[in-house]
Amino acid sequence: MVVPLFVFFVVFRYGEIFKTQILGCPCVMLACPEAARFVLVTHAHLFKPTYPKSKEKMIGPCALFFHQGEYHTRLRKLVQSSLSPDAIRKLIPDIEGIALSALDSWAASTQVTNTFYEMKKFSFDVGILSVFGHLDEGYKEKLEENYRIVDKGYNSFPTKIPGSAYHKALQARKRLNQILGEIICERKEKRLVEKDLLGHLLNFRDEKGKTLTKDQIADNIIGVLFAAQDTTASVITWILKFLHDDPKLLQAVKAEQMAIYQTNNGGKGHLTWAQTRNMTLTHRVVLESLRMASIISFTFREAVVDVEYKGYLIPKGWKVMPLFRNIHHNPEFFSDPQHFDPSRFEAAPKPNTFMPFGNGAHACPGNELAKLEALILIHHLVTKFRWEVVGSESGIQYGPFPVPQGGLPARFWKQSSCPSQNMCP
Ligand code: HEM
Ligand SMILES: *[C@@H]1O[C@H](CO)[C@@H](O)[C@H](O)[C@H]1NC(C)=O
Repeated sequence: MVVPLFVFFVVFRYGEIFKTQILGCPCVMLACPEAARFVLVTHAHLFKPTYPKSKEKMIGPCALFFHQGEYHTRLRKLVQSSLSPDAIRKLIPDIEGIALSALDSWAASTQVTNTFYEMKKFSFDVGILSVFGHLDEGYKEKLEENYRIVDKGYNSFPTKIPGSAYHKALQARKRLNQILGEIICERKEKRLVEKDLLGHLLNFRDEKGKTLTKDQIADNIIGVLFAAQDTTASVITWILKFLHDDPKLLQAVKAEQMAIYQTNNGGKGHLTWAQTRNMTLTHRVVLESLRMASIISFTFREAVVDVEYKGYLIPKGWKVMPLFRNIHHNPEFFSDPQHFDPSRFEAAPKPNTFMPFGNGAHACPGNELAKLEALILIHHLVTKFRWEVVGSESGIQYGPFPVPQGGLPARFWKQSSCPSQNMCP
């Protein structure tokens, strides 16, 4: 989720626990599953999430991922219930609509598409859907416009000099609060009781009957939109790259999706939840892409007391970093780890070795939605479109999550209107 850039130079070693300094802060790196589990799951109460203050301020300090204990548990329940399988299965037709209109617009474009940039729009729109249900277009545009400014400033140098990206972002963040205020007012007037995240946040009452404050609601909405966007967009971008690079695999995925497409009357019917749960190969491609790309390479916690682990002392105030990518690329757990091979997921990975969505108290509540978005997009992409990556640039770019170089520039065509029919797979 929130990954500051400055740690990417760390030298990774396998299966180890080692101390290092990051900008003068002592830090313990955890590259083995047991240690990561200790920090994130079994002894999570001894370690608190820790983020740079400038980022906390931008998202909103009441967002659940900055908290521990009771407040965290309470908010987490609300977020989880709006992202539960029962809640997200109802979103399928709308997600399909968003995916199809995105794909149509890329295919209609005469310009090269920046895949990552477009996927960000897709995942943002799905994020809006899961937070607000059907939101008025006007509000959506205002949210999108201001959120984009926040997004730009988030990874820039935190200075309050007017005109700086960070300063502009803080101002846009204030405007987001105002827009959210208007949306909430309108919903209260209409007395609608909705099952989306906003509905859950508005309806919450604690034991004493107290509701959440405006800031608590706003920060958690922005927090979820934030957590949902770049993560999902970069994973889907990687999936497109991995499929493009392996024509045989793409054919097999296509065969799986065409069978569903035909069952649904040549794509006229909507995908069902059962169908999305039965995309065996495509699902493995999603999992293997999550492993290979490991877009959340690690996370940070801070020891709230002196902690002893297997003879190591982790002094209070020290940071610890479970290294997900390192574990995902350890040949002991994933043989030939640099090789993209979805079939490795025919067997379940060893416990605590596969954590693309984290683990324990703060594990990603949006994981099912993220996978569902990917499956739906792939279904429509491979059954009705084809695409070609432009240029031969390989490499990785950090924005801040790893994405293929240049955001994976590509051209998209509708299957029926390929430049040459012979070129259609
Ligand atoms: C492929 C896409 C995604 C990946 C790889 C991902 C990964 C993660 C990871 C690793 C964490 C735990 C961070 C930590 O322990 O420090 C996390 C937390 C979180 N994610 Fe995701 N995520 C994705 C998509 C989403 C989506 C779509 C949503 C919401 C719609 C979402 C909402 C959240 C929230 C709210 C948290 C904080 C949970 C807490 O602190 O209790 N994520 N995510
Ligand atoms: C699941 O997919 C297989 C083919 O991959 C198909 O034979 C089967 O009928 C599907 N099941 C459901 C419940 O859709």
